[in-house]
Amino acid sequence: MKILLIGDIVGKGGRRAVCDLVPQLRREFDCGFCVANGENMAGGGGINRKCLEGMLKPGVVDVVTTGDHIWDQKDFVGEIASYPNVLRPANLPKEQPGNGWGIFTGPDGRSIGVISLLGRVFIHLQSDCPFRAADRALAEILPKTKIVLVDFHAEATSEKIAMGHHLDGRVTMVFGTHTHVPTADEQILPKGTALQCDLGMVGARDSILGRAIAPVLKRFTTGMPSPFTVVETGIRLQGAVLELDPVTGRAKSVQRVMRDYPDLD
Ligand SMILES: [Fe+2]
Ligand SMILES: [Fe+2]
Repeated sequence: MKILLIGDIVGKGGRRAVCDLVPQLRREFDCGFCVANGENMAGGGGINRKCLEGMLKPGVVDVVTTGDHIWDQKDFVGEIASYPNVLRPANLPKEQPGNGWGIFTGPDGRSIGVISLLGRVFIHLQSDCPFRAADRALAEILPKTKIVLVDFHAEATSEKIAMGHHLDGRVTMVFGTHTHVPTADEQILPKGTALQCDLGMVGARDSILGRAIAPVLKRFTTGMPSPFTVVETGIRLQGAVLELDPVTGRAKSVQRVMRDYPDLD
């Protein structure tokens, strides 16, 4: 079984690229399931109803994970309950709406568990321990399926690698999101769990993490605030294809994927 994993989708350009490229990539790599991080889908920050149109369709994205920007679009606080395929980090306080994990139906009717987690190193949104949250979710998921995907939305590679080893042999893959830069460390850990610290993003190639270069540079060089506009052209999709044994739930291989999306005139 093969699964397509996609990094942070940034803005309208990123959404359009996902809707067009993901069906092609799924066919090309024979992927029966797709998980994408959607925390920057709405104008670069947050997620909303409009963004999910066209995205949560058969053959496009099956499950959307999120991160520290989950509540940037205020309306989504009231809307998330109507989207069982959109996960907020499982280690946010339990009073917050939405689910942090779920069990979804993949190819051949097989159950696939997906957990969304948020890191605590250099991340400002307050959250509970992601390691314990993962253990709690797995106590519910593992009696039902051995195929489990974990999006650890975090800044520090140390925290992400630690999560990989914490979950090694218990989940299929731990993949990171949030930095918008893919890491070249895709690997299979000793007990069969795949790990990649960051998948990257679906955002503009000529940008700073998907935002226009000039205002971000101005902030760094002068310290003065300026609006960070999202670049909607020259989009590059980044992610990975995971191959797994559906019986054991262990990973067989993981391969980085990068694809440029042609601009529409
Ligand atoms: Fe992001
Ligand atoms: Fe983030």
